[in-house]
Amino acid sequence: MADPLVPAGAEPPALSPRALRDAFGAFATGVTVVTAVRPDGEPVGVTANSFASVSLAPPLVLWSLANTSPSMAAFALGAPFAINILADGQRDLAMHFARSGKDKFDVDAAWRMNPEPPRLHGARARLDCRVHALHAGGDHTIIVGEVLAVARSTASPLLFADGKFGRYTLDAGAPAVNHWSGLHGEWI
Ligand SMILES: Cc1cc2nc3c(=O)[nH]c(=O)nc-3n(C[C@H](O)[C@H](O)[C@H](O)COP(=O)(O)O)c2cc1C
Repeated sequence: MADPLVPAGAEPPALSPRALRDAFGAFATGVTVVTAVRPDGEPVGVTANSFASVSLAPPLVLWSLANTSPSMAAFALGAPFAINILADGQRDLAMHFARSGKDKFDVDAAWRMNPEPPRLHGARARLDCRVHALHAGGDHTIIVGEVLAVARSTASPLLFADGKFGRYTLDAGAPAVNHWSGLHGEWI
């Protein structure tokens, strides 16, 4: 049977940077701003959609940061950081922290005075972490965090797919799925 992903008579798309970006973008994600404080006292904040949950016991998460990022110095082993999971009204905040080379913390002067990782008001959830492990990942570094504390709100999530922001729409009537406990087939 013909592969519906490949147009009839055409070669599969090459692994060009464009094709790779498009394929990665096919995976819809939430959006986070990861915050921390560099050893020189500068607060850092990076919009990141590479976040993923990893482990319940111990509680671990991961995300990846470009090796060229000026924020990298904040993420030494054991360093505290916060993963701010953005709510659907925080698209502008996501874009604010996705721009390099400007003072991102001008939006709230209080952040500069605080030695703790900045907390973004109005986030959907926050995970307070410390760096558990760092792994080489090509042009990025995979940062594994141990989760120390969590906080949640009832806000809807901001989503990102195909290079665009969007909102989450619940399927009416669909049951909640606890994928951490094993599914045993009963919900299908
Ligand atoms: C939706 C979205 C997701 C992003 N995800 C990541 C990511 O996971 N890792 C990363 O290094 N950069 C990611 N970026 C790009 C960074 O936010 C951007 O390069 C930012 O300037 C990094 O901050 P810095 O230059 O202060 O380190 C993302 C940008 C957007 C808009």
